[in-house]
Amino acid sequence: MTLQIFRTKEVISHEEAEHGLKRCLSAWDLAFLGIGAIIGTGIFVLTGVAAATQSGPAVVVSFIIAGFACAFAALSYAELSAAIGGCGSAYGYSYVAFGELWAFIIGWDLLLEYSVSVATVAVGWSGYFNTALTAIGIPLPDLLTKAPKDGGMINLPAFLIILSLMGLLIAGVKHSAKANNAMVFVKLITITVFVAVALFNIHPENWHPFMPFGWFQTLPDGKTTGVLAGASLVFFAYVGFDAVSTASEEAQQPQRDLPIGIVSSLAFCTIIYIIVAGLLTGVVPYTDLNVPSPVAHALQQIGINWASALISTGVIAGLTTVMLVLYYGLTRIVLAMSRDGLLSSLFDYVHPSTQTPVRIIVVCGVVMAIMAGLMPLNILAELVNIGTLAAFVLVCLGVIVLRITKPDMHRPFRAPFGFTLPVLGMISCSALMAFLPAITWLRFFVWLVLGLIVYFTYSAHNSKLAQE
Ligand code: ALA
Repeated sequence: MTLQIFRTKEVISHEEAEHGLKRCLSAWDLAFLGIGAIIGTGIFVLTGVAAATQSGPAVVVSFIIAGFACAFAALSYAELSAAIGGCGSAYGYSYVAFGELWAFIIGWDLLLEYSVSVATVAVGWSGYFNTALTAIGIPLPDLLTKAPKDGGMINLPAFLIILSLMGLLIAGVKHSAKANNAMVFVKLITITVFVAVALFNIHPENWHPFMPFGWFQTLPDGKTTGVLAGASLVFFAYVGFDAVSTASEEAQQPQRDLPIGIVSSLAFCTIIYIIVAGLLTGVVPYTDLNVPSPVAHALQQIGINWASALISTGVIAGLTTVMLVLYYGLTRIVLAMSRDGLLSSLFDYVHPSTQTPVRIIVVCGVVMAIMAGLMPLNILAELVNIGTLAAFVLVCLGVIVLRITKPDMHRPFRAPFGFTLPVLGMISCSALMAFLPAITWLRFFVWLVLGLIVYFTYSAHNSKLAQE
């Protein structure tokens, strides 16, 4: 057992990692997939919360700090995803770099990150959808839009949107990518309209005081505030670029296109975030932004009412793509883990005609739809951040370990400046984890302990690597 948990996999090339999935995604599809997963609740909702309660107008600095941490991690992802085949993303890289137990832990961690993200975004989506229904005169009753804990019966729109995405993902990845591209387009138009309108309505006095909550402090109730705490909250806005690496087996030229997809989508979104956050806090005082839809709200405040409807449409499309891509990423990680025997091999089945892992898509969809329909998930958003940051730290460490243990591995892309960038990635992502509240750490540990129980009672005995 001792040996097994440290046993590492051999590097598999992209050519070897052929398992029936269809290679149909171009570099453009991958970049759009990234943008689809990245721009969502983070910029449309959390920017307002972070500006009003943690960063003030300096929320733009919070975005820059979180963006740097992600950029370091993204270059590490780019290096590993180009060199190591398979759709397991950080899970697959950890199997090669650190051995089975760490790989399992990181895979388990990614399951949490992706599934909770999808369910959380579905609840946010349902809120916007209901606002749109209300605007056209057919509001749903509270019983059908709220979780039992909030006084309803089921959050039906959240439940149904996940089931619809399930159908889309079963239909095939090219269909999903096409739908994704169209919705990303709508999302980008919405943002362009916001930028164009906001540019002419800036009141520079709103940027003073710039940093009302300072850099960092812990409040008596255990919550954290300041620009750094804001950075660890708005980090959620960047979650998702890593999902591009789960498309490794469906990329036409993975070695070239994965680094392009990862780096370009992240760079593009970072620029958008800095512009939108800067404009938003210039248009209205930051104190007004603690509302569910700060972007639409800001435009309403300056009297541009048609914008509210337009922004809501854009957000509905935007949040749909986030769910679609993260859901897709989740299924590919489960597929990788079940192929390795660490999760039940029942899942390791790709439907011959659709060439998609149908069983996983259905099981994950049903579980997430129930979570989204029945649970109020707001608190869990921070769990997504801690889980993702932990994965990023390990991916950066993986780059360092593999450069030492496997110096001759073929690396079509190499992060520049030696060990500097992965080391900076580890430091900055660990620091962002440290700025999260203690309760989030506690929940994270509970999830990891559960994972260890699964590993030692099931996975360790069924691991294909151990059997070999
Ligand atoms: N980055 C994604 C969002 O902001 C998860 O919704």
